[in-house]
Amino acid sequence: MTTESLNELKKQVLACQQCPLYATRNQPVFGSGNPEAPILIVGEAPGFEEDKTGVAFVGKSGQLLEKILKACNFSREKEVYMSNIVKCRPPHNRTPAPTEQSACLPYLEQQIEIIRPKIIILLGSTALKAFFGASSRITRERGQWKNWFGYEVMPTYHPSALLRNPGLKRDAWEDFKKVVLKYRELVDKNHYCQYV
Ligand code: URA
Repeated sequence: MTTESLNELKKQVLACQQCPLYATRNQPVFGSGNPEAPILIVGEAPGFEEDKTGVAFVGKSGQLLEKILKACNFSREKEVYMSNIVKCRPPHNRTPAPTEQSACLPYLEQQIEIIRPKIIILLGSTALKAFFGASSRITRERGQWKNWFGYEVMPTYHPSALLRNPGLKRDAWEDFKKVVLKYRELVDKNHYCQYV
């Protein structure tokens, strides 16, 4: 059922022309991972590699994210689904414009309704602001559980920020450790993680 509903929505996204990004994209990047995942990770927008392959988080940022998830003993195949605020790559990886974000957000909202994750991780400022408003600040709000329409939400740094500024990795890891604890509380009290 979940898979069918997601596939139906994916068809709409693949044909979407709701904002100008459709003209410059190679292909939309709908999202990937387990459709019944308890954890949804939300990034900003596809980059070069994602636009080329159609798969979310496969470039450098995705590789770092994968390492962090592995340290938590989470995997895309099982515990995680990944998507973005906008589904098409903005030219030169610029931040998606507010009009592009609002055109695309209904897709993410429908993905959330279908997947009904127990935990949502917001990566970076664009994702945080899309959920909690323009006055939100990732440096101030990361690492704290927030409530979004009943969902448990953890904002943290985007992996691209960690690649640019490795000094932020320590804080990001503290945030992911909180996710492991919450996962034990809400999903599987026996979830093994050698670091937490
Ligand atoms: N950065 C994002 O925010 N999302 C991706 O899918 C890839 C890189």
